[in-house]
Amino acid sequence: MSMELTRREVLGSIAVGVGALALPAWAKPGRYTRPTPVKPIVRLAHLTDIHIQPERAAAAGLAACLAHVQERAEKPDLIVTGGDLIMDAFARDASRTRLQWELLTKTFRDHCGLPVQHALGNHDIWGWNKKESGTTGSEALWGKRWALDTLGLDKPYRGFDAGSWRVVLLDSVQVDPADANGYIGQLDPAQMDWLDGELGAAKGRHVLIVSHIPILSVTPILGTGKDLKRREVSNGQMHVDSAAIRALFEKHGNVRACVSGHMHRLERLDFRGVSYFCNGAVCGAWWKGPHHEANEGYAVLDLFDDGRVEREYVVYGWNAKE
Ligand SMILES: [Fe+2]
Repeated sequence: MSMELTRREVLGSIAVGVGALALPAWAKPGRYTRPTPVKPIVRLAHLTDIHIQPERAAAAGLAACLAHVQERAEKPDLIVTGGDLIMDAFARDASRTRLQWELLTKTFRDHCGLPVQHALGNHDIWGWNKKESGTTGSEALWGKRWALDTLGLDKPYRGFDAGSWRVVLLDSVQVDPADANGYIGQLDPAQMDWLDGELGAAKGRHVLIVSHIPILSVTPILGTGKDLKRREVSNGQMHVDSAAIRALFEKHGNVRACVSGHMHRLERLDFRGVSYFCNGAVCGAWWKGPHHEANEGYAVLDLFDDGRVEREYVVYGWNAKE
């Protein structure tokens, strides 16, 4: 009997050798099966920057958006809003603020059958601009209280379970230490401690972060200045404590994605294992049409068991009204 190997035997031994060393189990010869499509664990609709107001048919616009969400063939499990629910309470008086909150709650009550989790934006805070709003700061509903009471919330930041995921809603907006009538994007110290604990408690799970103001974004430098030196990011456009928040993400290693609004722009930025999505605006350019690349729309987020996130920005077909 010849000791020489046939060509087929040589190739076969190489294939087995390579398969055993380098290929995953499903790729070994004879083991391959077509993967079945993976369904998301949770599908949520992220509606940010609604900015409801009596003008420009904004309530009808929100109703159209909510109908669009709920008529999808693969309907989301829940809605998460991203702040700036109303056009503005920051620099407006009590009667104008009341009108906007009544419009928002009525529209959700009449047109939404899905569970909703609300986040707050800068425009949802009543009277921090005392000069413009005419408030003193001693009113019972001043600041975040009016929004919290209206939305039935104890605190502006919190976490909740969504399948095997943990969704964490942050409160992005704090008083600007350099301007008593202004705000900056920041977590207060108690909230930063809470986030550290929250991420620690979610060990072994995937986490989605929702903030009104982006934690990381290039959108603030779009369209400003004519050269790179003049491009600045103001303290109100992106979290000033971005580095500290991202340090917590790296410490715990379970944050997969962050979604934000505020800029009314459309962006995806992947950095050090976290995807940062800026998800346009339901109102586009405050109900006057699209804002740059962001038509009036909302994002659908599919969260998968392996930590993947897929984002689709859905334009719901609104035409701006006078
Ligand atoms: Fe906004």
